[in-house]
Amino acid sequence: MTTATTMKALNYIGPYQVRVEDVERPKLEHPDDVIVKVTTKPEAAICGSDLHMYEGRTAAEPGITFGHENMGIVDELGEGVTSLKKGDRVVMPFNVADGRCRNCEEGKTAFCTGVNPGFAGGAYGYVAMGPYRGGQAQYIRVPFADFNALKLPRGKEHEADFVLLADIFPTGWHGVEISGFRSGESIAVFGAGPVGLMAAYSASLRGASNIYVVDRVPERLAAAQKFGCVPIDFTKGDPVDQIISHNGGEVDRSVDAVGYQAVDSSGSSEKANIILENMIRVTRACGGMGIPGLYVPSDPGAADKASANGMISLSFGKLFEKASGSLLYLEAVNLANLLQGLSLSTGQCNVKAYDRYLRDMIIAGKAKPSFVISHEIGLDGVVVAYEKFDKREDGYTKVIIHPNGGF
Ligand SMILES: NC(=O)c1ccc[n+]([C@@H]2O[C@H](COP(=O)([O-])OP(=O)(O)OC[C@H]3O[C@@H](n4cnc5c(N)ncnc54)[C@H](O)[C@@H]3O)[C@@H](O)[C@H]2O)c1
Ligand SMILES: [Zn+2]
Repeated sequence: MTTATTMKALNYIGPYQVRVEDVERPKLEHPDDVIVKVTTKPEAAICGSDLHMYEGRTAAEPGITFGHENMGIVDELGEGVTSLKKGDRVVMPFNVADGRCRNCEEGKTAFCTGVNPGFAGGAYGYVAMGPYRGGQAQYIRVPFADFNALKLPRGKEHEADFVLLADIFPTGWHGVEISGFRSGESIAVFGAGPVGLMAAYSASLRGASNIYVVDRVPERLAAAQKFGCVPIDFTKGDPVDQIISHNGGEVDRSVDAVGYQAVDSSGSSEKANIILENMIRVTRACGGMGIPGLYVPSDPGAADKASANGMISLSFGKLFEKASGSLLYLEAVNLANLLQGLSLSTGQCNVKAYDRYLRDMIIAGKAKPSFVISHEIGLDGVVVAYEKFDKREDGYTKVIIHPNGGF
């Protein structure tokens, strides 16, 4: 335990500006809290989701400390915490959840109603997600710690894999899950950023027959190709036509790992509905679309007024058309699948529903998601890393930070 009352944290200053500042060190505020030292080797990470805030494309206020992918060593414990000990290595879902509301009881921890008054869902260091400072700092307060902190084996093994349990590995897995995917099916993943690569990797672990990954960044497409996906460069022709011609027809499932900041084939003009439109076209009737890609109710930087208010235009008629005749699809395994046609599902990932199992796949050597990490830095390198990551320069795919390294 340290006696210092301040710590370093990376704060948002305004669009395209972040700065390492001295802030108050977090204290235990409730008997169920722990304080985790985000330090020595365990890492925090920079995520594509932070970029939306970094670019001024959300309602994030200056002073917010980013960092929702947190891992570290338990440093201080509230007296109500029973399952953790000082020195335990832990990783936290990016969702903050209380474990006791109706949604938590049903495993939907991304929609916890007990941690962010007036809103279903809380997260560390994220706009509108409650008063929880992010972990791009030396210490982080973890509320409802018995529920939120996932224990990891002590030591240093698998660190770069485990940090991905906070967000992108479960989120990629979730994208596949909510598409209704079943082993043997084909799937198209839009976006080969960390989330898209993790979705494609999850589909591969889960026995997909054919996996198509769409992006335009060569390093990202190459990373997907390495584990057997078919890379689709959307600047080289309509991605839907490319997939259909390769697959000999539409795919069973699709995943949106891009979100509202998707660009058209020029690479420079944003088109918020382009991924959803492509998914409706490329996914077969009675298939499924999983949409972990982010859409926001308010986007100050949107190209038009409708998107600025989170209104995305969709070919709903086409979606409806592909949703008909589903009773004829006899291979469906349960009643819900039998009754629905082309379906879509979206929202934040309930990380807690998956992290334990994905952790065990890592420990057992069945999964090694850290292939996605391109850069490891100290906090002092973060300001530059944000700039480069934002432009996706030098193959910046996923950056992990060692907050103590840079001090
Ligand atoms: N639902 C959740 O819980 C959750 C969790 C984490 C991230 N996210 C969201 O998932 C999305 C992806 O995250 P990331 O970290 O991988 O982001 P990222 O920005 O690193 O990756 C997005 C990729 O999409 C590509 N892209 C842009 N336009 C495209 C198009 N028209 N077709 C195909 N690809 C296109 C970009 O080139 C980029 O490589 C973001 O919206 C992020 O906010 C959601
Ligand atoms: Zn809850």
